[in-house]
Amino acid sequence: MQTSVTTTDLARLRALPKAEVHLHLEGCFEAAVLAQWAALEGRTLPRPVETLFQFSGLADFLEFLDLACGLASTPQRLAEHCYSLCQRLAADGTGYADVIVNPTHWHAWQGRLPQMLEAMDAGLRAAEQDGLPPVGLCISLLRTQSAQAATELVELLSALKHPRVVALSVDGNEATAGRTGPRFAEAFKRAANAGLRRTVHAGESSGPEGVWDAVNLLGADRIDHGVRAIEDPALVALLAEKQIPLGICPSSNRVLGVYPSIEAHPVERLRLAGVAVSVNTDDPALLGASLVGEYALCQSAFAWTDDTLKAVARTSITASFANADIQRALLQDLAAWATGAGD
Ligand code: ADE
Ligand code: ZN
Repeated sequence: MQTSVTTTDLARLRALPKAEVHLHLEGCFEAAVLAQWAALEGRTLPRPVETLFQFSGLADFLEFLDLACGLASTPQRLAEHCYSLCQRLAADGTGYADVIVNPTHWHAWQGRLPQMLEAMDAGLRAAEQDGLPPVGLCISLLRTQSAQAATELVELLSALKHPRVVALSVDGNEATAGRTGPRFAEAFKRAANAGLRRTVHAGESSGPEGVWDAVNLLGADRIDHGVRAIEDPALVALLAEKQIPLGICPSSNRVLGVYPSIEAHPVERLRLAGVAVSVNTDDPALLGASLVGEYALCQSAFAWTDDTLKAVARTSITASFANADIQRALLQDLAAWATGAGD
């Protein structure tokens, strides 16, 4: 059943206290900024600015990330990019975000993770000082990396203990990498021992087997996408029983061809089966998504009531890796929204 979403609804969705738990720093570039950086570097973009963000699928999209991130070659550009991400969060009324960063895409920073973390942290600190939402970083492996590269990254993160880093992540294309759960099991075990949380892309470019591996081999605290779990009822039952949250990105899945439409998307079937779901933007600038837009899309397509919106927002907060103070404050605000006081 389709219902229409009014301007008032959008304002209420913006005011809905929520977190975002599936958002890539790589996916937040503005086309105009990339064009400006490319001109400064004497580089040519593959397409005109107007069509720069047209992708044929996940592989093409991931290739573009290398180009875009490669242009963020100075500490100032990286810090500015992080600051502008926080402005984007504020525009959606997002109270906190876990942001995934995959160092393999950032070519100018290869072998310089400490400096890269400092540059990102400078932008995020400046944003917070200006009243913009706080962010935790989930440092990500690429599915095609080796086991050795994975454990090296975790050892470095364990040694650095950077307060901005909250989790180890893995993303990239499982369709080209194959079934790599076993390859990354050791790195994820070490991350857990080092006190890092664990979030795993699975069930987007892999089927249910990728989600099983995320749970059984990688000890995922949270799964990014996870939507193809819907193809295996036993897996859906397990996710529901263990309340392993899914960070779902409906528009991303449509744009990158996982599902043809919101009507075909399994977010509602997963929710109704008792799985803890949140909605997120994945790569908002590159895929033309906003967090308010994702809530509005689901509200319209699945006739989500205020109680449902509240439950999904609550999951976004409790599934986040925000500290207890941030979570408590957001949950308090959410209770006020539910009674109308936060409208
Ligand atoms: N990196 C950025 N966006 C991604 C996605 N949707 N899937 C896998 N890796 C990604
Ligand atoms: Zn993602």
